[in-house]
Parts: sequence; C-alpha cells; structure tokens
Amino acid sequence: MPTPPPPAKPITPTGILAAELAAIAQQLATLPSLPEEVIQHVDRAQKLAAGLDPYLEACTSPESADLARIAEKTAQESWQQRFDQGTTLLPLQREMVSGQVQGQALKLFVHMVNAKRVLEIGMFTGYSALAMAEALPEDGEVITCEIDPFVIDFARSLFQTAAAGQKIRIIPGSALDTLDQLAAQGDRFDFVFIDANKSDYVNYFERLLDKELWRPTA
Ligand SMILES: C[S@@+](CC[C@H](N)C(=O)[O-])C[C@H]1O[C@@H](n2cnc3c(N)ncnc32)[C@H](O)[C@@H]1O
Repeated sequence: MPTPPPPAKPITPTGILAAELAAIAQQLATLPSLPEEVIQHVDRAQKLAAGLDPYLEACTSPESADLARIAEKTAQESWQQRFDQGTTLLPLQREMVSGQVQGQALKLFVHMVNAKRVLEIGMFTGYSALAMAEALPEDGEVITCEIDPFVIDFARSLFQTAAAGQKIRIIPGSALDTLDQLAAQGDRFDFVFIDANKSDYVNYFERLLDKELWRPTA
C-alpha cells in the first residue's frame, strides 16, 4: 500500500495563527504557576482560529471530481525530491496549489464578470486553471503561463481527462515574455489571475495595464 502523503503545512493566515497559538498553549502548560484564566483564554483563541478554515470549507460549494484529482495528485508528489533531483526547475511545494475555497471563489469571479477569455500567470499543477475553465462557457478559454516543464507535463496529463480541460491552453516560458507575445498578437482578456513569483507581481500588473491585455467588462 502506498504511504499517505505527510499532512500539509498550515498556509492560510488563520491556519498559521492556530498553529502558533497551539505552540503557545503547549509552552504555557509547562509553566509552574499560571492563572487558569490565561490558559483558558489561549485555548479559546486557538479553537476559534483553528475552526475558521474548516468553517469556510463547509460553507463553500464542493469541488468537482476533476479538481479533487489534481489536489490529490499534487499532495502525493514528492516535490522536495523532484527539486533535489533536478526534475523541477524551481523549489515547488504542494502548498502552492489552490484549494476548494480559492478555486470556488475564482469560479465565482469568472461568472460575475461573465468572462469568456481568462489569463492565468502561474499555473503549477493546474488546479486554479481548471477551476476557472469550469466556470467558462463552452467556447471560453483559459490561457495559462508556466515556466516549469515538469508541472507543465503534470497538468497537461490531468487536463486530458478533465471535462473542462480542453478549454485550457498552456504557454510555456517566462510569464513576462508571454505577456509581451500575447500583447503583440492583440490578445485581450476579461479576467486575469496573477499567481506566479511574487517579485514580479508589480511588473505583471503594469504590463497588463500598459499593454491593455486586461479588458475590464462593463
Ligand atoms: C503559486 S504557484 C501557482 C498556483 C496555481 N495558480 C494554483 O492556484 O494552483 C506559482 C507557479 O508560478 C510558476 N512561476 C514562477 N515564476 C514564473 C515565471 N517567471 N513565469 C511563469 N511561471 C512562473 C511556478 O513554477 C509555479 O508553478
């Protein structure tokens, strides 16, 4: 039987807060004389923080089986080993993947602006690209930029069996170069999701506006 993947690290602000509060509670428990009230306050704060993400997930529409498959395959992959062996260009991590809440929020935004053409900057294993594709009409398209060849192949094989996978076109390479190419071709997008290397966010944003790649819907 394959070994189950290790539990994901907390990545949301409230998840991290809950973990920090749990660590504080553990340390407090070792101190000899602390008022019971202090321990109870920390315990209540920890429980409140730890409950927020599960609450959001419970209130959010479920993901499709295709999205669940991407999440599962991403969690099963040994990302550190892949990077150490030189299989991935970048030190990628399973925590980079969007989950149910982010994916369903993206679908909602795509619906809200009635988007037909979506641009994604930073695809990873394809979760957010597929979530947005699921919200598009049959003739809609997601163009997604990704620099890492390993995840490009990884996502491509998962898109092949996904119901909305044929609406996704992957453009390999550096996203800034891709934006220049798309602009030179006169491409325009109704919705853009920037989710690649943070150091270039401002450049992506400026490029989208300067080259009129983003066409806000009225
Ligand atoms: C946070 S992950 C994207 C997660 C994905 N959007 C999702 O929600 O599941 C960031 C991705 O951006 C890619 N990336 C980093 N720098 C890039 C660049 N300069 N051009 C294109 N892709 C880049 C990384 O390889 C990685 O796969």
